[in-house]
Amino acid sequence: MSVAVVLQSTTDPRWFRLAVERWQELLLDHANCEKKAASTALALMFSYPEDFELADRMSRLAREELRHFELVQQQLTALQVPFRRLSPSRYAEGLRKALRRTESERRMDLLLIGALIEARSHERFIGLIPLLGEPLGPFYASLAAAEARHAGLYLRLADKRGDGARERLQQLAAVEAELAVAPDAEFRFHSGTPEGGKGGRGEGGKGEGGRGKGRKGRKDRKGGRTGRGEEVPSALPDLPPFLSFLPFLTFPVSAAPRHHRATRARCLACASRPARCGGPACRPRRANESLGDGYAHAPAC
Ligand SMILES: [Fe+2]
Ligand SMILES: [Fe+2]
Repeated sequence: MSVAVVLQSTTDPRWFRLAVERWQELLLDHANCEKKAASTALALMFSYPEDFELADRMSRLAREELRHFELVQQQLTALQVPFRRLSPSRYAEGLRKALRRTESERRMDLLLIGALIEARSHERFIGLIPLLGEPLGPFYASLAAAEARHAGLYLRLADKRGDGARERLQQLAAVEAELAVAPDAEFRFHSGTPEGGKGGRGEGGKGEGGRGKGRKGRKDRKGGRTGRGEEVPSALPDLPPFLSFLPFLTFPVSAAPRHHRATRARCLACASRPARCGGPACRPRRANESLGDGYAHAPAC
């Protein structure tokens, strides 16, 4: 499919400022997003079991998203971020309201919405990379390519499953653009900017393991080092200029990041065929990694 993913709005620079200030919430919500991405892929498999190609691609995608979840959890642990439950953002709920109820329109909408969510994740990852210090800047750099690839996957699947995908994409993209930039009650990975640039600490529920607002020895708002000496994201420098003037973001599916080429190793998370993965970003499996057959997944793969 040669269609480009088009986001009809760019993220407000104030959202990026808030993301740097509230990187702990960002990371906690990012973990939720990866879990939701995996569960969305699984839900599609259950909803359309007769669609073998869809089931196959979603199975691989679910594994990759769960691998991303594990990587985010590793960052949370390394940076000593205490777990908090976060209430869901209005973003996913707003997109769900736009779903058509009849088949096969519903399936197309689910796939197109998946593409838009992945594209928004990609846009925000890219915007965060230069703003966050070690280790989160490089971490988002390592994940950004996968989100673009996932957007392309969803688009290709949608385009093969009925007419009118492009037109419908534009309609849903308009809904998505509004949800991503309109003032929001909560700060979340896919939220708009809370009013006044502050809003919504927004924990939901009773909060497992919420050990308060930080422990001694950790600077958790403006950068510095954790009690263990790891660096945490630094305060915000100037926003990258491209964020302030691009009218919208596009990236052609054909330019989506490629797999590493040709070795005998299999990529565990994206489950590429053995011949397609195992490039320089893949690493030999560690002794304590029980999955797979020789190579662990590289996040950017
Ligand atoms: Fe992901
Ligand atoms: Fe993804």
